[in-house]
Amino acid sequence: MNFALISYGILLYFLCFSARNDAIRNWDHEFLYIESTSSNEELVNASIKLEHTEIGKNSVSGFIDWKFDADEHTMCQLRFLWSQSGRDNDYKDTIHQVPMMTFYEFLDKYYMKIVYADWGSCTNLPDIGSKFVPPWNKTTYIFSKCDPPGVNFPDILPRGYHKLVCKIIGQAELVIETILKLTPRKNMLV
Ligand SMILES: *[C@@H]1O[C@H](CO)[C@@H](O)[C@H](O)[C@H]1NC(C)=O
Ligand SMILES: *[C@@H]1O[C@H](CO)[C@@H](O)[C@H](O)[C@H]1NC(C)=O
Repeated sequence: MNFALISYGILLYFLCFSARNDAIRNWDHEFLYIESTSSNEELVNASIKLEHTEIGKNSVSGFIDWKFDADEHTMCQLRFLWSQSGRDNDYKDTIHQVPMMTFYEFLDKYYMKIVYADWGSCTNLPDIGSKFVPPWNKTTYIFSKCDPPGVNFPDILPRGYHKLVCKIIGQAELVIETILKLTPRKNMLV
């Protein structure tokens, strides 16, 4: 075994692997807040909380207990707001929005890219492939120490506070609100 060669290989791999992000992506994130509210816990119940991890970053754990039948009238919206100061009344809509649309349309157009890509590995949320085939299962979706990297989020985002508000409106209304703080990306190689 040539350990020098192996180490070199690992270093090379690491350089290539991290090159794209270090070159382009200008942000790192930290979860500051997450809260879920249901208009009727008998129909959809959720408890999603921040947990402190060993390395001092917050991760997301909890559940969504989905108990109503989603259908073609179920709606969904994602709002992205930004504030430099983080004060409540400073948040303004950004250009990145998922307008109110049917939940099924949301599943077809956005779910795999912005939900599953980030939350698929730490939850039992389903991989629905390229086209959603009903039904959306009534089950408990579990979140276990999630720290989603924002895989398909823009590489260039302004520093400051970003608020995401996800609304699902069916027989009951579920709102999940989260606030992330973006900081300059730490370059691990220097
Ligand atoms: C909803 O979840 C909370 C937190 O786990 C629990 O205390 C409450 O009893 C649940 N409500 C219903 C109707 O199941
Ligand atoms: C719903 O549950 C069935 C049976 O477990 C499974 O085969 C299917 O993939 C699930 N669909 C979704 C969208 O989660």
